[in-house]
Amino acid sequence: MRLTLALPFALFAFACSSDDDSPKGGTGGGAGAGGSAASGGQAGYGGSSGGAAGSGGAAGSGGAAGSGGAAGSGGGSSVPTLLSETGLYSDIASETLAPGVEFYQPAHVLWTDDASKKRWALVPTGAQIDTSDMDYWVYPVGTKFFKEFSRDGTRVETRMLHKTATDKWVMIAYQWNTDQKDAVAVPNGVQNASGTPHDIPSTADCDTCHGKMTDRGLSFTAIQLSHGLTGTKLSDLIAQNRLTHPPAGHFTLPGTAAQQAALGYMHANCGTCHNDYSFVFSLVDMRLWLGTASLSTVADTFTTKTTVNKPLTAAGASAGATARIVPGDSSTSDVFLRMNERGTARQMPPLGTEDVHADGSALIKAFIESL
Ligand code: HEC
Ligand code: HEC
Repeated sequence: MRLTLALPFALFAFACSSDDDSPKGGTGGGAGAGGSAASGGQAGYGGSSGGAAGSGGAAGSGGAAGSGGAAGSGGGSSVPTLLSETGLYSDIASETLAPGVEFYQPAHVLWTDDASKKRWALVPTGAQIDTSDMDYWVYPVGTKFFKEFSRDGTRVETRMLHKTATDKWVMIAYQWNTDQKDAVAVPNGVQNASGTPHDIPSTADCDTCHGKMTDRGLSFTAIQLSHGLTGTKLSDLIAQNRLTHPPAGHFTLPGTAAQQAALGYMHANCGTCHNDYSFVFSLVDMRLWLGTASLSTVADTFTTKTTVNKPLTAAGASAGATARIVPGDSSTSDVFLRMNERGTARQMPPLGTEDVHADGSALIKAFIESL
């Protein structure tokens, strides 16, 4: 367990900037070392600037909470301190969801060291999702997404993304109390939370992943909702006239079941950063985020078009790598090799995981060998 060094005041300042390139997000700001749960940082929800960076968090005191709640001079309501105040539940004790909150599942999930997850969406009634670009949806103001994490049977945290204005999202995690009756905002994140190996990311960390997508939502999307699982699906959104440009039906990934799983895996686990809207694309012109209009064959996907026999462009490739993907040879394919690195600058994904995902890695190995 290490103390968190996140920056409560920088937390909200990113709301308008989509392309924060620093791995830990955020700039400036006084370090409020070791602030306990819900320290400072609550303010600024919907505020214009997120407050002046650096004004808070007396450094090094190891936990004086709340030393900076004065941020958010732009006004607006404050970020709810408790999960019970966010609008997810109408009654948290009985876990009754609030009206309009719908359970959904993505077809392809992000691997985060064996945590199990549940997700919900709240899209304002009557408002449509702008799907004029089918690959990058734009959600109506007021949309909220929630994602709950359990580890080894303990409910550890529930995260919220809330679109408060056209170009502003609040991103915050709530850590469940030991009595499991409510959860408290932890803008600085928590390492090894609730006696599990699970790390709750700071709000700055949220932006490192979600900030690289045009409108933040990563799994309430055309490809991710094309499945036969329970919960809201793409077909429901079409039938309920909730998309401005409805597609004809679900999208199907090309290839064998194993190839579909590999393409979906890279979409969810890598496409977050490796997509057209991410600043990462200016460093590495690789698209692992699938495009709905390029799914006719495996060779037609952006994933293979931008990796197969494509030279490496980033500094410091893995030892032995000669291209992003060398068909038939995972041992020289950087896409595979980087997935097996942890704790180096080459590790992919660069955050959110401390363990190599053996199943994911095996999936990508088989995919490369199938090409
Ligand atoms: C390592 C990258 C990463 C970090 C850090 C991260 N997320 Fe996510 N998040 C994802 C991906 C990828 C998905 C979609 C796939 C999935 O849910 O399995 C997602 C899904 C979600 C969802 C469901 C709605 C959606 O966008 O798909 C919510 C809510 C969410 N994250 C909130 C947060 C919050 C709040 C934080 C910070 C406290 C955070 N996330 C940190 C990558 C990340
Ligand atoms: C949080 C953002 C993020 C995620 C998620 C992510 N990457 Fe990356 N990736 C980067 C960045 C940034 C670079 C450039 C790094 C550099 O310059 O060293 C990069 C570079 C790469 C490269 C080098 C390509 C080249 O041309 O040299 C490969 C291969 C790669 N990533 C594969 C993956 C794979 C596979 C995944 C998913 C398992 C993934 N990445 C997930 C941010 C990300």
